[in-house]
Amino acid sequence: MTDDYICTHLGDDQYEYFGSVVPPISQNSLHVFPTIEDMQRFNGKDDRIYTYGRALNPTVDIVQKKIAALERGEKAALFGSGMAAISSAMLTFLGSGDHFIGVRKMYGPAYRFVSEYLAKFRVESTFVEGEEIGDFEAAIRPNTKAIYLESPSSMFFTLQDIRAVTSLARKHGIRTIIDNTWSTPIYQKPLELGVDLVVHSVSKYLAGHSDVISGVVVGSAELIEKINGNERELLGGIPGPFDAWLIMRGLRTLPVRMKQHQENAMKVAGFLESHPRIEKVNYPGLPSFPQYELGKSQMKGYSGLLSFSLDCEDEGIRKFINALENFKIGVSWGGFESLVAKGSGKTVRIAVGLEDADDLIRDLDRALGAI
Ligand SMILES: Cc1ncc(COP(=O)(O)O)c(C=O)c1O
Repeated sequence: MTDDYICTHLGDDQYEYFGSVVPPISQNSLHVFPTIEDMQRFNGKDDRIYTYGRALNPTVDIVQKKIAALERGEKAALFGSGMAAISSAMLTFLGSGDHFIGVRKMYGPAYRFVSEYLAKFRVESTFVEGEEIGDFEAAIRPNTKAIYLESPSSMFFTLQDIRAVTSLARKHGIRTIIDNTWSTPIYQKPLELGVDLVVHSVSKYLAGHSDVISGVVVGSAELIEKINGNERELLGGIPGPFDAWLIMRGLRTLPVRMKQHQENAMKVAGFLESHPRIEKVNYPGLPSFPQYELGKSQMKGYSGLLSFSLDCEDEGIRKFINALENFKIGVSWGGFESLVAKGSGKTVRIAVGLEDADDLIRDLDRALGAI
């Protein structure tokens, strides 16, 4: 089944909804049964039978099926935010006295969840650069239960060798999680590279329109059912049906949006690399990227988020950002719109959106001239 088919048709089941080409939003908190016997027979035992919205909702179900299929996983669990998905994935592998290894450049709140929050429950953690397999090897302890990857990371886009890490983890009986938000399943399918659980901030490319906050965990039926029965059921960080419907709508165009993000980002990265005021461009799609070959071996393409460093100090960087018109100043990414944010030091991060690439380049060129 192709990704395009999954996005456009999988799970839509029009004839269950009066032939509606778009499945309607099931804006329900519960479902009722004709007899108590029917309820007792089906309660929680069959995915197609809906009881209570925290467990499963028909609109959420469609989205879960599409994302599970895109990632080549058996099942997916949709959450109310990326952080709800990430914390649930971590909690399913970690308990008091366990040790966790993560990449140092992982998403900030995910880093804090382990290093500060889970530390309160005596979970130990080690953070590694992760560019060499030896970084992980050296960090493993007898009580290590989970390794967490974010490849590419979302500020400097450094990669981890996913195949090497998962085979090392397997040898030691350690579970692996990866944040695949940057690549999306269109460009990287980590479950096929041996990862146990894939997490996403669905708020980014998967939903794609900057109008939803959501997250997802994808993996084997066994692991996702465990998460559904524990973290999703007990912590309750579920999405609402309307948000699920917006995600379903966003997913329909995911493959074409990713193509356009890639094409635009390649042009913009090439322009930046050739500009005299730019010292360095961090984008895995550029042949000059230090891990370009590794990227090609585990990704099929590149999304639209990249960063670069300017040859000036703070004041110049602020002038540059404020002079941009097409790039709106904001923290998130993965939507249709181009965005800009200031990183640490001389680093500027841009999310290249779906606008005309030449317009974006003209905007950047003009703003660089304003420094
Ligand atoms: C790489 C990455 N992972 C996870 C998250 C968290 O997702 P959410 O904001 O949907 O909770 C973000 C959000 O910015 C992110 O950039």
